[in-house]
Amino acid sequence: MSLVRSSSSTDEDLEALVELFFRERFSTDNPIITEAVKRMLRAGGKRLRPRITLLSAAACGGNPLDHLHLAAYMELIHVATLIHDDVVDNAQTRRGVNATAVDYGNRVSVLAGDYLFAWIFKNVTLNYPHPVPHVLSATLAEICDGEVLQLQALGNLDLSLETYVEIARKKTASLFAASAQCGAVMGGAGAADIAALRAFGEAFGIAFQMRDDLLDVTADERSLGKPAANDLVERKTTLPLIAALASGDGDFRAEVRRFYEAGRNDAIPEVVLGIEREGGLRATRAQIALYVELAKQALEPITASAAKKDLAQLTDALLY
Ligand code: IPE
Ligand code: IPE
Ligand code: MG
Ligand code: MG
Repeated sequence: MSLVRSSSSTDEDLEALVELFFRERFSTDNPIITEAVKRMLRAGGKRLRPRITLLSAAACGGNPLDHLHLAAYMELIHVATLIHDDVVDNAQTRRGVNATAVDYGNRVSVLAGDYLFAWIFKNVTLNYPHPVPHVLSATLAEICDGEVLQLQALGNLDLSLETYVEIARKKTASLFAASAQCGAVMGGAGAADIAALRAFGEAFGIAFQMRDDLLDVTADERSLGKPAANDLVERKTTLPLIAALASGDGDFRAEVRRFYEAGRNDAIPEVVLGIEREGGLRATRAQIALYVELAKQALEPITASAAKKDLAQLTDALLY
């Protein structure tokens, strides 16, 4: 199963129904905000979080057809964080189109993200039992916490692997964990399966962020649909760089320090070559493989099913 397209036809049918909800049912009282969000939804995206919610519900014996709205809310939370994240990261493109702030400005983008969060929570608190609203509120707090921690770490060449993983866990893995957990809860799972799927989502999300950080230095804007090397532009010390610096080469460290201090983006290709030379890409792939393994181990207690297999295949796709 690739990250982009699902393998089974049932999976594709379900995704088509989530898309139908976005096209025909999603609307807010504010036309500008509705259009800004719909524009992001139309632009694409991998729809990983809703897929994980539906597969988690199915893996616990639930009928995913009953949880399409919950799945859609997971994607909408993600979209709101992306609208804000592009303001925070000064990113000009997203999903192959202009970032929301480019077309609507930072002010509308901040308000649109806030509005969307509030719109989602208004619906979730009305329609879902405990602990779903609590899990989603706690997730949002964690995402913001992770993004702030990351801001505080900008330009820090001594960022530890532990703090990097903490940031990834909060800003990214928490939503994957919540997507899996809430799918399991609504699918009728018992406490052990809910905990297993949450642990799965968390390990998946950490591997996912590591892969995103790897792609930031190895892929181009065309394939990413968002700016390449933006983490270096923003002086984010991500895993490929942390791992390369750990090789202990003093010349490389001095080169990166000069780059961080001088703010000259024309030095980026050299820094990327250095990351590769010092083993940063290889070490990042090894860490991704570690968290992929942890995610699959977390799935072990779940009874075998097609949905469980799909979750494992989705996880393996992070290796490529
Ligand atoms: C991007 O997430 C933000 C990160 C957590 C790295 P995705 O890579 O899932 O973005 P879309 O939904 O496919 O656009
Ligand atoms: C974003 O991480 C995580 C979010 C909470 C949105 P990144 O900043 O690496 O995501 P991209 O690369 O902009 O998609
Ligand atoms: Mg970003
Ligand atoms: Mg990124």
